[in-house]
Amino acid sequence: MIFEVLWFLFIAIWLLLPAYTPNNFAVVFGGGKPLDLGKNFIDGKRILGDGKTFKGFFAGVVGGIFIAHLELLIETFFGFHVFSSLTYPEFLKLVFALSFGSLAGDCAGSFVKRRFGVDRGGKFPLLDQYDFLLFSLFLSWFLCREAFSKLFSLPVLVVAFVITPILHRVTNVIAYKLGLKDVPW
Ligand code: CTP
Ligand code: MG
Repeated sequence: MIFEVLWFLFIAIWLLLPAYTPNNFAVVFGGGKPLDLGKNFIDGKRILGDGKTFKGFFAGVVGGIFIAHLELLIETFFGFHVFSSLTYPEFLKLVFALSFGSLAGDCAGSFVKRRFGVDRGGKFPLLDQYDFLLFSLFLSWFLCREAFSKLFSLPVLVVAFVITPILHRVTNVIAYKLGLKDVPW
């Protein structure tokens, strides 16, 4: 039982690294021109805010896909098959969906935060922790149904929803301590 849980925990983290890591790349490499070009929405508040930039979005997508390739190499080296059970084109499509979906979800979250009057960097419980995961999983399912149903079993999804807020908290505290983020959330 305990080994099964640990196994699902490992698989969930392994599968979702290309969804978890894009935001870290965005924090490190982001900045500059905002995606909303500084424009306001019809409510007079910023569409997305200065925290969502072109550089961050691009670096995040590339970073997530890069991490997935490292995972593919590690699987080949150690001889276990998660991503490597897919064909390369299937793999590429899936990890693009995971990384792109993650940052698109992050932007959608910021859009909602701005509508509720929460300023850039402000806290919005649940949305901050789940926006990127939901979009990432949805886009992966939408674009890669076969690969998705092969890899994302129900226990893996359940574990993902349980561990995501914990991982989110831990990485943000680390980024804060390293001086990469102004706030620990
Ligand atoms: N970032 C970026 N581009 C993105 C996403 C993130 O440049 N597409 C960078 C920004 O420097 C941002 C930091 O990563 O401040 C942290 O990201 P996040 O916590 O998602 O943004 P917030 O600044 O908290 O803004 P928001 O309130 O809109 O979530
Ligand atoms: Mg934030």
